[in-house]
Amino acid sequence: MSHGTDPRPMTARRSGPLTGVAQVPGDKSISHRALILGALSVGETRITGLLEGEDVLDTAKAMRAFGADVQRTGEGEWVVHGVGVGGFAEPEDVIDCGNSGTGVRLIMGAMATTPITATFTGDASLSKRPMGRVTDPLALFGSQIVAREGGRLPVTITGAVDPVPVRYKTPVASAQIKSAVLLAGLNAPGETVVIEAEPTRDHSERMLAGFGATIRTEKTEEGHVITLTGRPELRGQPVAVPRDPSSAAFPVAAALIVPGSEIRVPGVSRNPTRDGLYVTLLEMGADITFENPREEGGEPVADLLVRHGPLKGVEVPADRAASMIDEFPILSVIASFAEGRTVMNGVAELRVKESDRIDAMARGLEANGVTVVETPDSMTVHGAPRVPGGASAVTHLDHRIAMSFLVLGLATDQPVSVDDGSPIMTSFPDFIPLMQGLGADLG
Ligand code: S3P
Repeated sequence: MSHGTDPRPMTARRSGPLTGVAQVPGDKSISHRALILGALSVGETRITGLLEGEDVLDTAKAMRAFGADVQRTGEGEWVVHGVGVGGFAEPEDVIDCGNSGTGVRLIMGAMATTPITATFTGDASLSKRPMGRVTDPLALFGSQIVAREGGRLPVTITGAVDPVPVRYKTPVASAQIKSAVLLAGLNAPGETVVIEAEPTRDHSERMLAGFGATIRTEKTEEGHVITLTGRPELRGQPVAVPRDPSSAAFPVAAALIVPGSEIRVPGVSRNPTRDGLYVTLLEMGADITFENPREEGGEPVADLLVRHGPLKGVEVPADRAASMIDEFPILSVIASFAEGRTVMNGVAELRVKESDRIDAMARGLEANGVTVVETPDSMTVHGAPRVPGGASAVTHLDHRIAMSFLVLGLATDQPVSVDDGSPIMTSFPDFIPLMQGLGADLG
């Protein structure tokens, strides 16, 4: 997509109370999976509430390149006519997944057991990220893989002609690894098994079952064992994408740190594998009420009512990290205003996201007057009632770093800038107008 565009510096200034309703966009993880599973199904998949951010649009483009018919029929409304399990065609061009680790890793899995060849690339951020964590298990199915040194993009995969099912224990807690293996397992005969020590987001499992696959999860001494029966006929489904709890975290954080704020954030997914930030915020004393709990699109959702109030620092246990892995940057901003220190444990994975998020947050917070202590796998933020601000943060092509520092600047004494806000388009295209609509002074 437009990752080659010029950097867009942005600034946030101390704002009055935030009020109103924040309608955050569709869930990014579920949006990618809806397009990919739609493409691997027979018949029609009608999607509503799809996130139309650059990451997901890159996945839509990729699904067309593999032969699926993917049409946009309205705002957030898409229709996919799939080619069925094993039906992917060889793409004519390189598949450019832009900034998206989820996109590239899941699509690699989806094609790795079909005898076609595809080459994957991405932007400068994605090209630095490790792909061996996915290509290693995909090679076990019998696919051939050529990667740049260190297992980086570009990666070329020739899918297995006679795929064998795989039993794979993930070395790190990662839904992307789990999902890539499960998607590859779809076209392998027999049972493909993924074992994870800590449960990670389970959207692939829920959606695979919804599309007609036989899949089960058991908790054993080894960990969470997910077993998929290969070669199902997936059937196209209606998919209503719930709103993204990771995107909701930004207006929620802003309301928590800007005095006098009270906002509502309707229809946010409360899937327990995504809920760690909200558990942590309640422990910090945050004034959040979960109203009208219900099920939407196969996911538990609720309407959030969020009010500003005093917060205290907490220790976040390592075994909660997977359920809030994308929320540590914004938690470190909230923690900057809490009384005492907030310790985030077991967060080494943050170093291989769109940027090294521990380093990016620590440097930017320090520049704005916050004390941060980091280790290879932890980050501690010392909170204070007032945060000076007044500095610019480097975003390293990372949407969540950009949004986190813009939220910080809404409550600091002096404005906070970011060198480049353009990556926000990958996951939350309406972030700036949505925040302005609540009364935030940023742009
Ligand atoms: C995602 C999984 C997480 C997360 C990413 C989305 C997914 O990555 O950080 O934003 O949709 O599966 P890991 O699985 O690598 O932790």
